[in-house]
Amino acid sequence: MAKSKKSWEGRLAGQPDQMTVDFVESLSIDKRFYKYDIVGSIAHAQMLAEQKLITKAELKAIKDGLLEIGQEIAEGRFKFDKKYEDIHMAIEAALISKIGEAGKKLHTGRSRNDQVATDIRLWMRDEIEILQAKITLLQKAFVKLAGKYTEDVMPGYTHLQRAQPIVVASYLLSFVEQLERDFIRLKNCSELLNVSPLGSGAVAGSTLPLDRKSTAKQLGFSGVTRNTIDAVSDRDFCAEFIFDCALIATGLSRLAEDWIIYSTSEFGFVRIDDSFCTSSSMMPQKRNPDTLELIRGKTALVYGSLMAMLTILKGQPTGYNRDLQEDKIHIFAAGDTVGKSLDMARAIVLHTKFNTKRISAGLEEGFLDATALAEYLVGKGVAFREAHGIVGSLVAYCERTNKKLGELGLDEFRKYCRAVEADVYESIGAANVANKYVTEGAAGVKQAKGQIAYWTSELDAR
Ligand code: ARG
Repeated sequence: MAKSKKSWEGRLAGQPDQMTVDFVESLSIDKRFYKYDIVGSIAHAQMLAEQKLITKAELKAIKDGLLEIGQEIAEGRFKFDKKYEDIHMAIEAALISKIGEAGKKLHTGRSRNDQVATDIRLWMRDEIEILQAKITLLQKAFVKLAGKYTEDVMPGYTHLQRAQPIVVASYLLSFVEQLERDFIRLKNCSELLNVSPLGSGAVAGSTLPLDRKSTAKQLGFSGVTRNTIDAVSDRDFCAEFIFDCALIATGLSRLAEDWIIYSTSEFGFVRIDDSFCTSSSMMPQKRNPDTLELIRGKTALVYGSLMAMLTILKGQPTGYNRDLQEDKIHIFAAGDTVGKSLDMARAIVLHTKFNTKRISAGLEEGFLDATALAEYLVGKGVAFREAHGIVGSLVAYCERTNKKLGELGLDEFRKYCRAVEADVYESIGAANVANKYVTEGAAGVKQAKGQIAYWTSELDAR
């Protein structure tokens, strides 16, 4: 077995300081790339053979060696040594010690700079697919829950003040919409990153006749990057990926905030299943929505990664700089965190119950039907601005007399507006209003049912 030395040991005098070894290594983090690194190397070797830069026999030795190494890593038999800095060097060194001379040809026309850029893209493509699948599962959970509450009315809020009646299903479907945009953003990110940097070398390409299209095709890229300088320094897609994760986390955090509030004794709108709550070490009555609080709290880490990624990029001179090595910890942290939060959110959604009795018991509080009453007056020929004023006065009157709008007599209504007739009672009351919405996309019964049908077929086809 050839004793594996690092190739630059001829250039630098002596051994690196141990502190330097520990400081520059990324192996502990990027070993996660090993499959992608091996797949990328096999494609590169294949291309080298096609271009007659290595022989068929050398290609076979390289391929077999790399596959064996992959097996060893998968089975936990591979000894990772930090002195090889990163997964690229660790695998290459292992290959050389396994197959000797042929192994030394693998890196022909390649740099770790284009290699790492390739690995990240390959990893991210898969990671995006996984996150998209998790998003779809969460969307389905929301649609399923919405299906149980198409006729149940709850208050819709603006400024966290009661605004207009909405059906519970519409509220739940609003999250499906947000998640759909998250899905599309990830799809766009994946399309943009899906070009091959391999063959860009360190920064300027190579004088050897590399066939970049061949490696790109083998690796499932849609094409090759056009400019080698850009290709080795571009991490825009990493920032974009983390931003997409940050927005997913934001949406989940807002869901968490809603349900933390809705599950308080004060609201009592939802019951989070016991399996997702914890208790207190001191207060025996407690049932805390810790999983939701952590979904909200973990959002901070993703924002931190986004800020870190942007900051890594901002000061770099053109070309590859070692700063870029710091990208991985953030793309992994963002993807992992959001993946777990999506799973957790799905489990919670699937088991959450809306306390519809409690919600409807308080539904006539807060004049949710006031806007609908103004619109009723519009239907009777009153100008909206005037109707708005009339209803405002009626609400003030109700507050003084401690009544709901629906409890006013026809004579009381007509004191404020002659246009009011006996049919007014069909247009007020939260439940009536929720059944009367006619706008496309409104938060009413009909529209919610339509949206459920749309999402059911859309998500089933995915
Ligand atoms: N570990 C490095 C990274 O993650 C690989 C590229 C190092 N290239 C170099 N020329 N030092 O970015």
